[in-house]
Amino acid sequence: MTEQAEGPFLYVVVCAAGIAVDVSKLITAAQERDWEVGVIATPVAMNGFFDTAAVEAQAGRPIRSAWRSPGDPRPFPPPDAVVVAPATFNTINKWAAGLADTLAVATLCESYGLGVPVAVLPCVADALATHPAYQDSLIRLRGMGIRFGEPYSGEAGEDGRRPEFGWERALDLLGR
Ligand SMILES: Cc1cc2nc3c(=O)[nH]c(=O)nc-3n(C[C@H](O)[C@H](O)[C@H](O)COP(=O)(O)O)c2cc1C
Repeated sequence: MTEQAEGPFLYVVVCAAGIAVDVSKLITAAQERDWEVGVIATPVAMNGFFDTAAVEAQAGRPIRSAWRSPGDPRPFPPPDAVVVAPATFNTINKWAAGLADTLAVATLCESYGLGVPVAVLPCVADALATHPAYQDSLIRLRGMGIRFGEPYSGEAGEDGRRPEFGWERALDLLGR
């Protein structure tokens, strides 16, 4: 049987950007806003980008990264909303192109058809963000109604410190 949620259910999609090390901040903020959280990480993100055991304990559910086997129940309830944070250059471009080669991207592609709100916090270096394919991806996804946070390059400022990522912005963009 598909697992049932008691409250509104939020999918948190995590990509392989360095800032993912702090994704627990987003889960805490979502739970404080009464979301139940299911985490879907890209396969690369599962490989050392954040503390997977701590995040599973926090969410109270296993992280999903690969497809279930045919005949297995759907592990998560259907989403009421989806956030992608951090979102990489790679995942954003594949999502816009409909190249669903990871469960994370397939989930994002499907979310459009489900009609649920989707909010994205990109973490993309300026040198990549200028690529025309990325700019086209943003135009396409915005045209699909996807809600984007402010650009974030992950690069340190003159003081040598990274600016705050602003995790809660993803939740604000959902408008709940
Ligand atoms: C330490 C480290 C930090 C990275 N940070 C970023 C980042 O902030 N943004 C980004 O787009 N890619 C970043 N990358 C590159 C991605 O991990 C790489 O493109 C990967 O294929 C993305 O896979 P995914 O989109 O399936 O998560 C980083 C790679 C490493 C090793």
